[in-house]
Amino acid sequence: MRYLSKNTRANAIPIIPLGNNALRSWVKRQSKPLGNWIRRTRFKADPGAISLVAGSDGELARVLFGTGPSGAPAGEDIWEWASLAARLPEGLYRVEGSLDPAIAGRVALGWALGTYAFSRYRDDATPFARLVWPANVDRAHVERTARAIFLARDLINTPASDMGPRELAQAARSLARKSGARCRVIKGEELIRENYPAIHAVGRASAQAPRLIDIRWGGRRGRPKLALVGKGVCFDSGGLDLKPAAGMALMKKDMSGAAHALALAGMVMEAKLPVSLRVLVPAVENSLSGNAFRPGDVVATRKGTTVEIGNTDAEGRVILADALCEAASERPDLIIEFATLTGSARVALGTELPALFCNDDATAEAFLAHAAAEGDPLWRMPLWDPYRDKVKGKVADLTNAPEGGYGGAITAALFLREFVDPRIPWAHIDFMAWNLTSKPGRPEGAEAMGLRAAYALIRDRFGK
Ligand code: BES
Ligand code: MN
Ligand code: ZN
Repeated sequence: MRYLSKNTRANAIPIIPLGNNALRSWVKRQSKPLGNWIRRTRFKADPGAISLVAGSDGELARVLFGTGPSGAPAGEDIWEWASLAARLPEGLYRVEGSLDPAIAGRVALGWALGTYAFSRYRDDATPFARLVWPANVDRAHVERTARAIFLARDLINTPASDMGPRELAQAARSLARKSGARCRVIKGEELIRENYPAIHAVGRASAQAPRLIDIRWGGRRGRPKLALVGKGVCFDSGGLDLKPAAGMALMKKDMSGAAHALALAGMVMEAKLPVSLRVLVPAVENSLSGNAFRPGDVVATRKGTTVEIGNTDAEGRVILADALCEAASERPDLIIEFATLTGSARVALGTELPALFCNDDATAEAFLAHAAAEGDPLWRMPLWDPYRDKVKGKVADLTNAPEGGYGGAITAALFLREFVDPRIPWAHIDFMAWNLTSKPGRPEGAEAMGLRAAYALIRDRFGK
């Protein structure tokens, strides 16, 4: 972590977290000039407010950092800390006072996330302030988390011209290599021979062949089995049901589910969690050409059921059908699957709150509890059985695009459910994975959503 320092604390500038109510009594213990400075500059210790305090030599001596109403422990919210790395003058800082380990972790993670920039195509010379690692922090966990978030953001931010199915498979291979995992990629016509017809049908029109990425790690008898699945549509033009320009603009991010599955797998492997891990990523481009799949086509699936294509732009559920069917075939103890699946989920919950669908109440409740504790929110939506009829096809078993489109996130989730054995707990996250505007630590562009919550769930359920 470039902006977190293992330096000794001696020469670091102290940052003093102060709540609104703690301010007054703190000021009383300070010098008169400092008290005046705080009053004259109207520093009230509101959340995120900072006051730079000079020493008698004119050097920056201290930073007062507002953490808002007391009661809440200082710096509960990682994003408050994310702003500091960019706002403070360059230099080395430390947080004064002893922090609870959980808070220390948020301070460090917030700081690290505040320094992210997507710098693949230009040098981003923005300098950031550096922080001495707070004491009591689980450094390995913070580093793992920040690395995973950066990896997910980088993969998503990379445009389709440099992040097609081929490059996505390469990224998976290099991730697997780092942890000694096995990575197999089934490509093009092999998908037909190995019975992944739905992935092939969606991806065959692209200049880059469709693929199924299959990573295995930690497979030892007696270990719980965890499967991670992610939608890997490297670009979603909509296919023959072409998207209008505005709808297509961000569609390089339609492989965000894949990026999340890979980043989360990276965390699980680095932490050496005692699980038998499998990652399945169908990687395609939803493109147009003479051999593109068409509206009205009937596509076979790995499960043996048939899908009528009502709309070629509802491609995600079609490729995920084959991937989920394969994931379920080994009877894992948990499947977590991420997908930028529907616009409807965004209509329902907006862009910052991912939808969680889950066929198992205990898993859903645990997931939501971790989401709240981590400050990585999710909202549960129903797998509403009465709508099951809507995903039935007219000439095939299922349709990928129910008429009317109402409840589109629910009907998409119900479609996916057809491919998962109901005895296997399965969590499906339908999300945006993108910040439409910049906030501290969360610049406009790719965003990891639900990743920290998912890791916390996995560690809690399967960790030693
Ligand atoms: N990738 C899109 C969904 C999407 C759009 C997610 C914008 C996040 C932001 C997906 O493949 C899609 O096009 N879905 C259609 C389905 C419809 C045609 C049934 C949708 O939601 O409009
Ligand atoms: Mn689409
Ligand atoms: Zn899509």
